[in-house]
Amino acid sequence: MAKLNINGKILALDVEDDTPLLWAIREQAGLTGTKYGCGVGQCGACTVHLDGVATRSCALPVSAVSENQKILTIEGLGAERPHPVQQAWAELDVAQCGYCQVGMMMATAALLAQNSSPSDAEIRAEITNICRCGTYPRVLAGVKLAAARMTANKG
Ligand code: FES
Repeated sequence: MAKLNINGKILALDVEDDTPLLWAIREQAGLTGTKYGCGVGQCGACTVHLDGVATRSCALPVSAVSENQKILTIEGLGAERPHPVQQAWAELDVAQCGYCQVGMMMATAALLAQNSSPSDAEIRAEITNICRCGTYPRVLAGVKLAAARMTANKG
């Protein structure tokens, strides 16, 4: 049994201690926006926020997450209205097959919360998610558009 704070709700989930957070989110909480890619913490498809930090949920057992830590998934990110990252992705048609893009957007949202105007080099260093379709140029454009919108909205 694990108690997890997912998207602002405390959920009591019937899972073993070593169950990866990804499967608690997908199979127990029923939030299937977060995807399974490699299962070994490499590709980033499973990225969620843990206390605001982009975290690869396939490589983290639920026992390593406390009820006091806030888990945010894509369903929570866009719960009230599309997040600027989601808006930028839609506007620029960033996705191709789309499978990895939730992880890309979650990694981007975490980056922009810490660094509102990242350089190209910082974006490349921080967004290490893998896209088999090769959408990297559009991902870069999407990050920059979202950053510009978020900066403009603050001003
Ligand atoms: Fe978690 Fe690939 S599925 S990093």
